[in-house]
Amino acid sequence: MNHERRINELETENSHLKEQLMHAQSLTALGELVGTTTHEFNNILMSLNGYAKMGMRHRDHDKRDNCFEKILEASQRATQVVRSILGMAKNRTAKKEPAKLVDVVENSLLLLERELRKYNIAVEKDLEEVPEVFIQANQIQQVLMNLLINARQAMPERGRVLIKLSYNSPLELVELMVRDFGSGIPADKLGKIFDRFYSTKEGPDETGKGGSGLGLAMCKEIIEQHWGKIRLASEVGKGTAFTLCLPTLAKIERAKSA
Ligand SMILES: Nc1ncnc2c1ncn2[C@@H]1O[C@H](COP(=O)(O)OP(=O)(O)OP(=O)(O)O)[C@@H](O)[C@H]1O
Ligand SMILES: [Mg+2]
Repeated sequence: MNHERRINELETENSHLKEQLMHAQSLTALGELVGTTTHEFNNILMSLNGYAKMGMRHRDHDKRDNCFEKILEASQRATQVVRSILGMAKNRTAKKEPAKLVDVVENSLLLLERELRKYNIAVEKDLEEVPEVFIQANQIQQVLMNLLINARQAMPERGRVLIKLSYNSPLELVELMVRDFGSGIPADKLGKIFDRFYSTKEGPDETGKGGSGLGLAMCKEIIEQHWGKIRLASEVGKGTAFTLCLPTLAKIERAKSA
């Protein structure tokens, strides 16, 4: 009896810790967003300043019109950035909603663009039109970002990532693949990488990422909460492909009403 109580206590504690970890991970994403958008806003402000000054200096209509156009462009870009922050803030609710995975891909890339460029990683996209899924978008974004960061870390010098979105119609699964051309994972380690605290990295890199061994464990947890699966293919020296397979909104609705 005592044993049973202890097990219950540990299970409760475990689920609290998982919740805290998810929360911490979503804060990391928010930090990333603040970093990227601050940088972006700075660029926009420099354009606004520069063109406003230029417009004041020049008296002729054509030059001034040109400056006004540039100012309008920059402020429209600022509106877009604000919209994406608000979108992400809204997505922080703990509810699953119908969504398009392509939006999650674009938002994740917006956040990681600068980092990937810094590490000379080219991003190739092959995004088919696919049915909607039923997701908590900020969590799936977290998964995708973890996979992209792992991919980047597997190619320390430079490299290429392929993001492919496709539809498996017989199984009604939307499939999102992240493929890198990096180090690959030895066959005898493939069974370990989703374990909590399994890591071959020495510690966080200069961007503060990697080494905790929790990234993939969290990815698996999140994808399973979405009734999905993660497929994995890897070859040493050639690279690694992770594929998220998520049931379509239609499939989930049918299962619910059955
Ligand atoms: N794309 C990849 N290419 C090669 N090895 C990988 C790849 N993704 C994961 N791995 C291996 O799996 C291990 C576990 O990955 P996971 O993301 O869970 O942890 P981590 O990256 O070490 O640390 P963090 O939890 O901070 O992300 C990595 O340490 C690495 O050895
Ligand atoms: Mg990782």
